[in-house]
Amino acid sequence: MAEQTKKWRIVAVRRLSEAQLEALSEVAEVDYFEDVDESNHADFMTALSKAHGLIGGKLELNEAMLAEAPALQVVSTISVGYDHLPLGALNRRGILLCNTPDVLTETTADTAFALIMATQRRLVELANMVREGGWRAHIGAEHFGVDVHSKTLGIVGAGRIGAAIARRGALGFGMPILYTASSSKPALEQHLGAQRRELNDLLDEADIVCISVPYNDDTHHLIDAHALARMKPTAALINIARGKVVDEPALIEALRSGGIRAAGLDVFVEEPLPSNSPLTAMDNVVTTPHIGSATHETREAMAQLAVDNLLGALIGCEPINAVNVN
Ligand code: DGY
Repeated sequence: MAEQTKKWRIVAVRRLSEAQLEALSEVAEVDYFEDVDESNHADFMTALSKAHGLIGGKLELNEAMLAEAPALQVVSTISVGYDHLPLGALNRRGILLCNTPDVLTETTADTAFALIMATQRRLVELANMVREGGWRAHIGAEHFGVDVHSKTLGIVGAGRIGAAIARRGALGFGMPILYTASSSKPALEQHLGAQRRELNDLLDEADIVCISVPYNDDTHHLIDAHALARMKPTAALINIARGKVVDEPALIEALRSGGIRAAGLDVFVEEPLPSNSPLTAMDNVVTTPHIGSATHETREAMAQLAVDNLLGALIGCEPINAVNVN
């Protein structure tokens, strides 16, 4: 008997397991790309031109590409953030966008705490000193760090990830918690004693300012030179959100001039961070390569959720996480 032609076509890009690809293949013809670059962009576009569904991490898609994908019905991103995708164009075309919240919340909060620990206790700088043979005598005050416990943690954006960071700070490290949010968060206030503040007041008071807002027009350069100038000179800035929430040149200047003490950064305006960025050469800066959710367990869970979202959307049941229900 001739094999029945499958109803759907799916383009999958980057980091799906064999089992996940197999699940997609049960209902659709799947074109899988481990990566898309100049060398295979034309093949990717040919596949996209016939696709009903697109799934992947760090998908690069623009309005012109969408115009060449007339059958596309669902985009399932393996990320919680979707600022890299043309939401307006997807909406105009009635294309459903699904993302992967929740499954990465705790891991991303862990990443924030790793950066908090590293910047307060100068872990990378001092580990490098040992590696390079620079530990020759008992260390003195010039190598001391700053406490984490009991310091005031200011969380800019107390959504799911911000709340998970707040829990770690309050319950694990006895930190007073301040937060910004469009409305108050009774659970954070009752269980953690957190207090809501206007951004400027939080910047004035916090010892560690941790950014966990989504990137959009309202949060572009939320932390600019003016905001940095409000921070204590002893304070550290942690960014696990998106690079463009911070005015990067203003941050570099604040770090150089002693306007703030340190920064722990997982996200940058340009990624990968160019190796000649001044941020890579500053002892008071810890940089990581956008690893917020990058653990085996969490990336697997994100990919699975994205597969479930896509299949749910295509076969007609409710998708699990739809960003733009029209
Ligand atoms: C997300 O899911 O948006 C993260 O930034 C990717 O790690």
